[in-house]
Amino acid sequence: MPEDKLRLAIIGTGGIARRHITAIQDLFTRGLDDFVVTAACDVDEENLQRLAQQCEETLGRRPALYRDYQALLRDGVCDAVDLCLPHGLHHGVAVDCMDAGLHVLCEKPLGITIRACKVMAEKAAKTGLILSTAVPYRRLRGHRLARWVLNDAGLIGRPMSFFHAYTRPPRRLDPREPVPPALAWRQDRLMSGGGMVMDSGFHYCDGMRDLLGEVVQVSAEVREVISGEPLPLSQAREDTVFAILTFENGAVGAWQWSLSAPGAPLRQVVFYGTQGSLIDTTDSAFTVFHLFFSSGEVQLEDGSVRTWAELEGEYRRAIGEERWEFYYPRGLDDGFGFEIWEFVEAIQGRRQGVEVDGWEGTRSLAVCQAIYESALVGEPVRVADVLSGARRTYQAPIDAHWNL
Ligand SMILES: NC(=O)c1ccc[n+]([C@@H]2O[C@H](COP(=O)([O-])OP(=O)(O)OC[C@H]3O[C@@H](n4cnc5c(N)ncnc54)[C@H](O)[C@@H]3O)[C@@H](O)[C@H]2O)c1
Repeated sequence: MPEDKLRLAIIGTGGIARRHITAIQDLFTRGLDDFVVTAACDVDEENLQRLAQQCEETLGRRPALYRDYQALLRDGVCDAVDLCLPHGLHHGVAVDCMDAGLHVLCEKPLGITIRACKVMAEKAAKTGLILSTAVPYRRLRGHRLARWVLNDAGLIGRPMSFFHAYTRPPRRLDPREPVPPALAWRQDRLMSGGGMVMDSGFHYCDGMRDLLGEVVQVSAEVREVISGEPLPLSQAREDTVFAILTFENGAVGAWQWSLSAPGAPLRQVVFYGTQGSLIDTTDSAFTVFHLFFSSGEVQLEDGSVRTWAELEGEYRRAIGEERWEFYYPRGLDDGFGFEIWEFVEAIQGRRQGVEVDGWEGTRSLAVCQAIYESALVGEPVRVADVLSGARRTYQAPIDAHWNL
């Protein structure tokens, strides 16, 4: 059937793909409906059928279903793809899609290693197609407001330091229960590339670059403590991280968290400037990964407090209605919806590219990889050396596995 709207296919129909369909439903309800979901692909029949059903019920259309993405490419059923696959598959599938002339929105982390990311970004540059890294959290109102407070509002002075810490007690899995598939590939470093440092941690590293600019150097320890043994990184399923990040603008701070800390829980996300502090007050287990998810406040040196609601009013006046509508079209405040809508708009030439393209996604992954490299070699690592490929001790076996 000929379509006059942009045709999008979803490849990988697991947990996050279902969240993307919910976001698309929200877009359609707002009249941001200049595209259709024409096809979906997965090797897992149950996930595929579940997503097809969701599309039928919420988007009013059942997509064509594929078990093999090459068949989907051959059939020419779409103009763009939304890749929601395990990390090790991102680069290979993305490159095949771009070779077939399709624009690509790829779930984070862009690629499994820096080499994988570069292959993708270079292919996008060569073909002129849009490659977007799907990162929802830096698009949220709270995050954009925090960025304005730190960089433009002049409220807390010059950002100098930050203290980000989170702990929770361990969640012990029942060894008699089978490991769920979405966890199984995450526990395999050759398929995931790593644990929380580059899974939810990708959001943190990307968000911190958005808030404070480029990271110059990283010094880190990455541990598994749940076993009670001090395992080396090569054998560990990381559950505890201490990372000191030094930024180009001179700011320095610590990102420390443990998902295996029995007893007292801890949650603190504070930035200090020369005249005051910016505090993330979101009450969420993910606060140390998804910064300023919903709320925050500013505390000044004289003890006065500026509430989030007050600040948001000032921010909106400062950026103006046109910019506000650009960030939150028709009241949209869902990062997943924004990343998909921005992708559609960029393909149709209504936006100048995307905020987090292939190179930007590569730079964010370089911060995650610098944490691993530093923890493995036991010394500070410069992010530029990770980006250039001069430092890749941690990534080398993963690159070798994928012939990168
Ligand atoms: N933005 C976020 O907040 C967020 C949250 C969760 C996951 N993610 C990202 O989304 C991606 C997918 O994660 P998930 O949690 O949905 O995993 P998942 O395991 O739930 O889903 C992955 C799907 O890919 C399918 N698949 C595997 N190999 C395939 C192949 N060759 N062809 C087609 N399908 C194949 C699996 O069968 C599965 O259905 C990852 O990159 C992850 O980091 C992002």
